[in-house]
Amino acid sequence: MKRMNIAIIGLGNIGSYLFKYLNDNKKILKEKNNCLPIVKYVSAKNKKRKRTINIKKKQWLNNYLDATKLDDVDLIIELIGGAEGPAKKLVFEALKNKKHVVTANKALIAKYGDQLSKIAEINKVNLEFEASVCGGVPIIRALKEGLIANKISKIYGIFNGTSNYILSSMDKQNKTFNEVLKNAKDLGYAESNPSADLNGDDVSSKLKILSSLCFNSFLNNNVYVEGIKDIDKNDIDNANKFGYKIKLLGYAELLNKKIYQRVHPTLLKKNSYVAGIDGVLNAVIVDGKPIGQSIIQGEGAGPAATTSALVSDISSILRGNIKFPFSISNKERKKLKFDPIDQRLFSAYLRFEVIDKPGVLSNITNIFSKNKISIKRLIQNPDKNKKSSSIIIITHKSKDVYLKKTIKEVARKNYMKRNPKLIRIYDN
Ligand SMILES: NC(=O)c1ccc[n+]([C@@H]2O[C@H](COP(=O)([O-])OP(=O)(O)OC[C@H]3O[C@@H](n4cnc5c(N)ncnc54)[C@H](OP(=O)(O)O)[C@@H]3O)[C@@H](O)[C@H]2O)c1
Repeated sequence: MKRMNIAIIGLGNIGSYLFKYLNDNKKILKEKNNCLPIVKYVSAKNKKRKRTINIKKKQWLNNYLDATKLDDVDLIIELIGGAEGPAKKLVFEALKNKKHVVTANKALIAKYGDQLSKIAEINKVNLEFEASVCGGVPIIRALKEGLIANKISKIYGIFNGTSNYILSSMDKQNKTFNEVLKNAKDLGYAESNPSADLNGDDVSSKLKILSSLCFNSFLNNNVYVEGIKDIDKNDIDNANKFGYKIKLLGYAELLNKKIYQRVHPTLLKKNSYVAGIDGVLNAVIVDGKPIGQSIIQGEGAGPAATTSALVSDISSILRGNIKFPFSISNKERKKLKFDPIDQRLFSAYLRFEVIDKPGVLSNITNIFSKNKISIKRLIQNPDKNKKSSSIIIITHKSKDVYLKKTIKEVARKNYMKRNPKLIRIYDN
């Protein structure tokens, strides 16, 4: 019986769960893959930290980088995290030394995936990263294998469980952003520093990886990114009144030989499939030919879902499938044109909190017509006590550059009480 020696580096939320899973499921993994996985070594930052798993003394490495040098290590699982520092050092060294690598690290793959995949290809070892995108949703393997026949024109969806939990809880539980964020932290969904979840960076990293796999291109940093940190309960309630839900979506689209990557809160029709995906769930929608539309939905994060993805990668390596990390050889990957979204057409929701005085509404609508934006619906909600008014406008489709120019122009007016809001609407 073939055996494969594994080193797990990083024993936090994910690493500890995976360690236990591999020990408890050795027999079934051997049967399924015709190869026995053995967790030979582990490493973490602090050896003395109390852990919930039962690690033998001889399993501890003196230094985490030893895993890249020892002859009795075949596969290294990187679960440290972060695009730089020890995770980067470990994965580069491992591939250079001809060790297979499995990682859940989206930040590292989004930044150094092209360089790493070249080393893996030259050294004929695997670099697998299913767990780096949407936790337990097996979208990477689906793109590399199950959907290989297709020419993909668009991939989009909910790629961040924390922000989806926050938006859907604000909607359902009638709570403010800060109350819901605190709940998300208490429940372990949001990290103590949740900035990458809230500012869109986490989705942006995942989108770069998906886009590269869909379009056979190198990774590209041209992504328009907006997070959810400015969405408040009023926006959620207004969206409901207009028949929409707000979701943080990532999109990568191929249009006229150009790729557009964008991450931003989006108003979706209440009865659409994606609008109904709540809590920490993720969903990825792929449009391709000949398949048409295909949707995969599931738990986007957490140790259980992430371990499911890691074991999928580990099993692929146990079976001896040496594959190109980004599906095709680096020689075949293309340098495609990635364009900014300025000239794309969107309809949008705009909200202006203004001092309630005569002439304000007509001034705003004049700025709209000057910028060639036509208004589809308009609601004005005055608050007599605060001498203020909330003006909500739904526009017809206009160029993104004009939408941004309009809110910039209105923002400068002295009747504005706070920065205006612009949320794009999904209506294709
Ligand atoms: N959490 C999720 O739901 C989730 C989902 C998908 C992907 N991921 C990805 O999975 C990876 C791990 O996430 P996590 O939530 O498990 O993180 P975590 O709980 O913070 O664990 C990080 C681990 O790395 C260890 N570490 C730090 N510096 C090290 C070094 N120099 N040498 C060896 N070990 C070192 C830490 O050691 P100590 O234990 O001694 O501090 C800890 O065990 C990240 O890339 C993350 O983006 C996480």
